[in-house]
Amino acid sequence: MNTEIKKVAVLTSGGDSPGMNAAIRAVVRACAYHQLECVGVYRGLQGLIEGDFKQLDARSVKNLINRGGTFLKSARSKEFRTKEGRQKAYDALRKEKVDALVVIGGDGTFAGAIVFNEEHNFPVVGLPGTIDNDINGTDFTIGYDTALNTVVEAIDKIRDTANSHNRLFLVEVMGRDAGDIALNAGIGAGAEEILIPEQNLGRERLVSSLKRSKKSGKTSSIVVVAEGDQIGKNIFELAKYIEDHLQEYEVRVTVLGHIQRGGAPSCYDRVLASRLGVGAIDALLRGERDVMIGLVHNKVVSVPFTEAIKGTNVIDEELIRVADITSI
Ligand code: F6P
Repeated sequence: MNTEIKKVAVLTSGGDSPGMNAAIRAVVRACAYHQLECVGVYRGLQGLIEGDFKQLDARSVKNLINRGGTFLKSARSKEFRTKEGRQKAYDALRKEKVDALVVIGGDGTFAGAIVFNEEHNFPVVGLPGTIDNDINGTDFTIGYDTALNTVVEAIDKIRDTANSHNRLFLVEVMGRDAGDIALNAGIGAGAEEILIPEQNLGRERLVSSLKRSKKSGKTSSIVVVAEGDQIGKNIFELAKYIEDHLQEYEVRVTVLGHIQRGGAPSCYDRVLASRLGVGAIDALLRGERDVMIGLVHNKVVSVPFTEAIKGTNVIDEELIRVADITSI
């Protein structure tokens, strides 16, 4: 047990995700359990630079496990990307007598943490908090499951109206660089086609496939399009292209946008956030630093930040096959 750590700070950074509150709660309560002091940092890495701290005890995080968003607020900090900004953050941590930091966020947050530790040799542990599921070293990120359920619920509703009017709907879901939400929600919602950034099969193939499915007796169609998909310039341009080349359907577009980031976390995300939050304090007490706490094969693991942010997102080919077969 690392007895040098007496006070821990926790913050949320980058795009928020459902379950971040549950993760903060777990970190705070694990600190209370191990008799460590805990402070929350408002507005992520920017709040850290500005020394925006608040003392948290076990009772400060009551009634939070079920709440979406992050009560500590989140931000993307440009200043933290500068050496001066990181120096200010370090000074604020020293002034507050903080010995270790838990950051809940995505790859940008972890990349910042690596540089911060290089420069200041300060213990930082991370939790993967993003709806995108685009972090290596964990099977799931906090918020991803809730986002999938939100998308599936929305597409179920779109399907009703698509069916009533014999229309084709393009539904845009989040995922600038990752197709995980599109692929899994697409399978779960029974989409005809799923367009993801990791795979560009072209517009012609899309149109001929939609033509084929129309001929086979389908009266309406749902195409799930990840935000970062490369097939069209954007979803509206793609819709126009399809309408011009596929007279059989009227085409409509729905952009789900930020509703995917909000809402009460699913039970899965609450449990995941709780396990990883407790795991973060366990790791700090074992003397670990510069690691992300993830879940691999249902076991809590520590992964170096450098691994967590490595490479591009890899899509499971089996899922693509399942999507192809079940949408026939
Ligand atoms: O990284 C999470 C994410 O929700 C992406 O899926 C999306 O592209 C991006 O954040 C949107 O960011 P912002 O809220 O800053 O527009």
